[in-house]
Amino acid sequence: MKITDVLVLLSLLCAGGVSGRRNIAGDVIELPSEASRFFHAKDDVDDDSVGTRWAILIAGSNGYWNYRHQADVCHAYQILKKGGLKDENIVVFMYDDIAFNEENPRPGVIINSPNGADVYEGVPKDYTGEDVTVNNFFAAILGNKTALTGGSGKVVDSGPNDHIFIYYTDHGGPGMLGMPTSPYLYADDLIDVLKQKHASGTYKSLVFYLEACESGSIFEGLLPEGLNIYATTAANAEESSWGTYCPGEDPSPPPEYETCLGDLYSVAWMEDSDVHNLRTETLHQQYELVKKRTANDNSAYGSHVMQYGDIERSKETLFLYMGTNPANDNFTFVDDNSFRPSSKAVNQRDADLLHFWYKFQKAPEGSSRKAEAQKQFVEAMTHRMHVDQTMKLIGKLLFGITRGPEVLSTVRPAGQPVVDDWKCLKSMVRTFETHCGSLSQYGMTHMRSLANICDAGITTEQMAEASAQACPSVPASPWSSLRRGFSA
Ligand SMILES: *[C@@H]1O[C@H](CO)[C@@H](O)[C@H](O)[C@H]1NC(C)=O
Ligand SMILES: *[C@@H]1O[C@H](CO)[C@@H](O)[C@H](O)[C@H]1NC(C)=O
Repeated sequence: MKITDVLVLLSLLCAGGVSGRRNIAGDVIELPSEASRFFHAKDDVDDDSVGTRWAILIAGSNGYWNYRHQADVCHAYQILKKGGLKDENIVVFMYDDIAFNEENPRPGVIINSPNGADVYEGVPKDYTGEDVTVNNFFAAILGNKTALTGGSGKVVDSGPNDHIFIYYTDHGGPGMLGMPTSPYLYADDLIDVLKQKHASGTYKSLVFYLEACESGSIFEGLLPEGLNIYATTAANAEESSWGTYCPGEDPSPPPEYETCLGDLYSVAWMEDSDVHNLRTETLHQQYELVKKRTANDNSAYGSHVMQYGDIERSKETLFLYMGTNPANDNFTFVDDNSFRPSSKAVNQRDADLLHFWYKFQKAPEGSSRKAEAQKQFVEAMTHRMHVDQTMKLIGKLLFGITRGPEVLSTVRPAGQPVVDDWKCLKSMVRTFETHCGSLSQYGMTHMRSLANICDAGITTEQMAEASAQACPSVPASPWSSLRRGFSA
């Protein structure tokens, strides 16, 4: 089987009835392409005289095949550090299994682009390994030390004049974000935490950058205006986000790397922030640049970068959240200095397969490494087919042969959340996993189906019966076993 066949097959499987792409709503605000230096200079005085910049950076995955998420987070740290933020104000969540992973060709080094420098050095290890949890992430946002388990104890201990930047990069699915630990994160819980943070009066404004598949679904119809939060996402509520700097692309990683080095939306905002004087570039200007680079209109890959919350905040400068690197003082914002787009990108959900494939291809004939890579590839594929097929079967059992697929793949109109009854969704996920095994990283793609099962008024008992019928036993592969507990 050729990798291209597999990828075509997978994108067919992935597509799951999602038809067409939603139009991106036009911008409602009119902004000067560049405000005068004088205006910003005055602003800066105000910004510096009050408030502290805080940041939370979080990579929600582990495993060498997910190299890129932790590389993204390390790179983001370097930007903030050069921007002048202090370590005590930057909270980093990453599993930390990449730099010294046996697969890493440069031990102790992580790069986020083909010719990039090491971004790992100096990164604070606040929450690593099994301490990268939803609970600790929420506690860090809320500044609640007593709610923490493990980790450095660093939280966003912010005051009313402070600015907060949160950057999250990982796999996701409709209404859900991944974590290297169980459980995963549900959108409604995150929104509740942001509302609590707002109610506590401990920030002036908050910017949230989010990379994940279907990342728009985390905020769409959920994040209200008036919380002083501005969010942008790598994708809309119904499409994949993309890995980049992957083997086989141009530019491609150095030949010894068998994994993607970054993600499309993430490197777009970071490579932009790397070189500009952030005192003169606004959030909106960055949004436009990132949107252009991530969409890549002339190609089959790419996603729609979206914005949510208090859109008018995007007239603020990036400086308020990221500081600025003094070395970039003379590099003011220029509209079309976007980077050369890469030739291709890899669907988030296929990047693990790509890694196993390259590992397999390059391993010596007959080696144990080759056998291992093949096993990993087959296990990943088997897990995908298992969750895809059982979900399809459950749909048919619940709604009939013809209506089943239609109900599962229905996408609610733009502006509406994935589901209204989150309690129902959570219980449907648990019921599915009880009988069919963990959704895990890939299985998050089926969150919309589970949400639609709720919307259709199916009871937990009906769902349990259908799941039991579809899954006589829980498969034993590492992806679908109950070894690590439920995904959510
Ligand atoms: C902090 O977390 C603890 C433990 O979850 C909880 O009991 C407490 O109410 C929280 N404090 C605040 C101020 O929210
Ligand atoms: C920016 O340009 C000015 C004037 O040419 C020069 O004096 C200064 O050193 C430059 N700053 C940086 C960081 O390159």
